Amino acid sequence: MAFDKQLFDSIIEEFTVAPEELRTIAADFRYDLKQGLADPEQSSLRMLKSYLGLPTGKEQGEYLALDFGGTNVRVLRIRLEGEGKFEILKKVAKPLIVEGEYDYIGASSTKDQMFGLLAELIDEAVEGNHEQKYLLGHTFSFPSSQTDVNNARLIIWTKEFATPGVEGEVVNDLLKEALDKRGLTNVEPVAVLNDTVAVLLSAAYKQSGTYIGSIYATGHNTCYLEPNVDGVPMILNLESGGFMKLLPSRFDNVIDEQSEKPGEQRLEKMVSGRYMGELYSLALSELLGTKDKWKSYGFTAIDLSGILADEGKERSEVQKIVAERTGVSLTAADAEMARDLAVAISKRSARLVTATFVGIIWQLTGSGKVQQQHIAVDGSVYEKMPFVKENIMRALSELLGEEAAQVDTVLDNGGSGLGAALAAAMARA
Ligand code: GLC
Repeated sequence: MAFDKQLFDSIIEEFTVAPEELRTIAADFRYDLKQGLADPEQSSLRMLKSYLGLPTGKEQGEYLALDFGGTNVRVLRIRLEGEGKFEILKKVAKPLIVEGEYDYIGASSTKDQMFGLLAELIDEAVEGNHEQKYLLGHTFSFPSSQTDVNNARLIIWTKEFATPGVEGEVVNDLLKEALDKRGLTNVEPVAVLNDTVAVLLSAAYKQSGTYIGSIYATGHNTCYLEPNVDGVPMILNLESGGFMKLLPSRFDNVIDEQSEKPGEQRLEKMVSGRYMGELYSLALSELLGTKDKWKSYGFTAIDLSGILADEGKERSEVQKIVAERTGVSLTAADAEMARDLAVAISKRSARLVTATFVGIIWQLTGSGKVQQQHIAVDGSVYEKMPFVKENIMRALSELLGEEAAQVDTVLDNGGSGLGAALAAAMARA
């Protein structure tokens, strides 16, 4: 078969963010940021207080770090050595869902199963030691409203998590209960923080001049150091995945309607790894003329990366991946278009994410000059998806002109764990 060229062009058009649209989105993001600082109710950004500033770089001691926010949970025992140095003493991990075996994030799971698994992993990380006292930092990567560094109440699940009984609860109470059940009364949770905050802490511990932290992975979100929150500098978790002033395509609308939380996380559903493969599935099924128009072929962000990485003339890898998912063998010409579709979806993602970074930079800069700085980013999409970094750099230049030279993005791999340990140290400083 051959794809309908007109239809193809119209789909690509829908996924294209033109320069003036990019600028408008960055400006709207800045506007929402400003509104949010005055009154979060008036903004699509939640602007959640972390009760943390930046680390001094001198933090020391041994801590437990619990990293909970995706399908894989990790617990680390980390020794902070100051001067940006640290050592990982132990690392254990376990998925919250194993197909065919168990699922602790679906609607039929329970909070006891979920938090039981966390306690089990913590037990492993301390190697069964129920005597020695440990302070624990908990990276909990969902929108939570905090009253202090240790008290965080889950507002709403995102990223398609659906475990009942956790929304509206104080997560540390649930964790404490699970720890007590296992006899782990020697483990004291002292800080809860978002993963974006953890990444910013981790990057700032190692390198000064970092004020923005972002996750670009299964989910997407950004935080920044606001110079003045009730008189002190404080990191605010924007929950930028909830930003709404966007022009969604018809595919984005279908994804939203079919999601666990329609109407929520509109930016996240357009840019993050959890949804990009799905967007690709929907658009491709239209091109393939699939009977069930919104058929999901189950493409993942990893498939998209494979498709993007195929720079060969024949696009044979594209053909292979598409055939595996859809059962259709594409002609070379169609494979070319199938790759262009992946290019358009991933490029849009990187451009939208960059617009939000620039919105923050504009807000921080005011009418002055852009300060030299690094934006710390962690996550599989940023790290592994081909051309994402280049597309971010290009969009930064497009929006900031010459001043883009002041800004770069740096990968802070695994920052969630180190950041949690730092938060625990800072909470007890
Ligand atoms: C989702 C969560 C947010 C988190 C992000 C990255 O957007 O709501 O809290 O930071 O995913 O994990």
